[in-house]
Amino acid sequence: MSEVDLEARIPNNVGLRDNKRLMRALETWQPAFLDWWRGLGPSDFNEDLIYLRTAVGVGKGGWAHYDYVKMPDYRWGIFLAEPSGDQKIHFGDHLGEPVWTEVPGEFRNRLRRLIVTQGDTEPASVEQQRLLGKTAPSLYDLRSLFQVNVEEGRHLWAMVYLLHTYFGKDGREEAEAMLHRHSGDPDNPRILEAFNKPIETWVDFFCFTTFTDRDGKYQLAALAESGFDPLARTTQFMLTEEAYHMQTGENGVGRILHRSAELMREGIDPKSRGAIPLDLMQRYINFWASASMDLFGGEDSTNAAESFAMGLKGRYREGDGIYKDPKALGAEYPLEVPAEDGTMTKKSIPLRRAMNALLLDAYVQDCTRIVSRWNRDLDRLGVDFRIRLPSKRFNRNQGVYAGRPFSPDGDLLTREEWEARKDEWLPSEKDRDYVKSCMKAVYEPGKIANWIAPPHQGVDGKPFEFEYVKFH
Ligand SMILES: [Fe+2]
Ligand SMILES: [Fe+2]
Repeated sequence: MSEVDLEARIPNNVGLRDNKRLMRALETWQPAFLDWWRGLGPSDFNEDLIYLRTAVGVGKGGWAHYDYVKMPDYRWGIFLAEPSGDQKIHFGDHLGEPVWTEVPGEFRNRLRRLIVTQGDTEPASVEQQRLLGKTAPSLYDLRSLFQVNVEEGRHLWAMVYLLHTYFGKDGREEAEAMLHRHSGDPDNPRILEAFNKPIETWVDFFCFTTFTDRDGKYQLAALAESGFDPLARTTQFMLTEEAYHMQTGENGVGRILHRSAELMREGIDPKSRGAIPLDLMQRYINFWASASMDLFGGEDSTNAAESFAMGLKGRYREGDGIYKDPKALGAEYPLEVPAEDGTMTKKSIPLRRAMNALLLDAYVQDCTRIVSRWNRDLDRLGVDFRIRLPSKRFNRNQGVYAGRPFSPDGDLLTREEWEARKDEWLPSEKDRDYVKSCMKAVYEPGKIANWIAPPHQGVDGKPFEFEYVKFH
């Protein structure tokens, strides 16, 4: 079952060769995917040779292979992680029952919805980032962008495989619709809001990969616990790739902060050198962190409760046995919600209904760790400025804080106070124009734009100066 067939037209470890019907269906979808890639994927770079890693196995060591490849020739494959442990459902109402290898009829719609929602984000981010190659700060970064893009493409393949294999005609239609919805399309947009916002600059890109790809990590991690075994194992493998995307973001933001702090240490205003002031970075972080928190959905959600009860979507690291009660019954989750009169009131909700809130808490903890790493570097460079993660209440469009004027510290304001101060907290048009004016492509090996520090190390043991992209 899990032997990797690398010779097949679609590399896979799901035994595609033995399932001719499925193979034909996926081979029919493949040209549509390639059309989409050429039309809405990275613009202009499809004939160039990019030094990319390609997944070739699912084992712990050596799962990827590095080489020069033209992006449209990338070997998008279908890989499931090895089956784990005892193959029992480990949370919810079906606790202890064997995992499902087929879709249980009564969960079919919900499961399809979960897969479609996840799947839709993958091509969406490629569309959002399609013009960034034109302003890459270095060849190293250009390569990183394309690495992320091709892997998001592979994640789409992963979800489309599930739809084609387990959901019959509906699944095939959903797989097609994934290529028809487009990021920001007024008539047929992507499902989730953060995936319809354009990523116009590399500052946005690094914030997006830090905060939005990290939401992806938590959604995938919750699905990786699923009682539906093919979904669990698909998402487990996706997480291996996802780690690089988040690293790209964390390092990218860190390198921008580092560059500005270096200038400030010498008494130079970053703006005078076309670098990014730290308070401006804070506003971009506020924007993308809050938009990404919205992706977790409402804190109080019967939908989330049902997905948990059914054993389809677990808590973060549920399988590691870190929760006392794998059924999550009889416990409450405390929430503070704004009342109409402008005060905050305490409210308790049954734990199962708070699954989104719990996942968001794990995410916030993770983000807090990233922010303190950035701050340690600022500290080392002797700069006083500290980055802060905005409160969960700030600038939200989903959940109990949606549409209410909270400061980044989480204080409830009046509308007037919010209007007066919002440009301190979120990027203004002027900010965006300035950042855009800094974005100019640097394509010479070993050279880098003035607004970002070079990385500590290159990729695959290669130095920063390596020719990561060879133009045709
Ligand atoms: Fe992804
Ligand atoms: Fe990603």
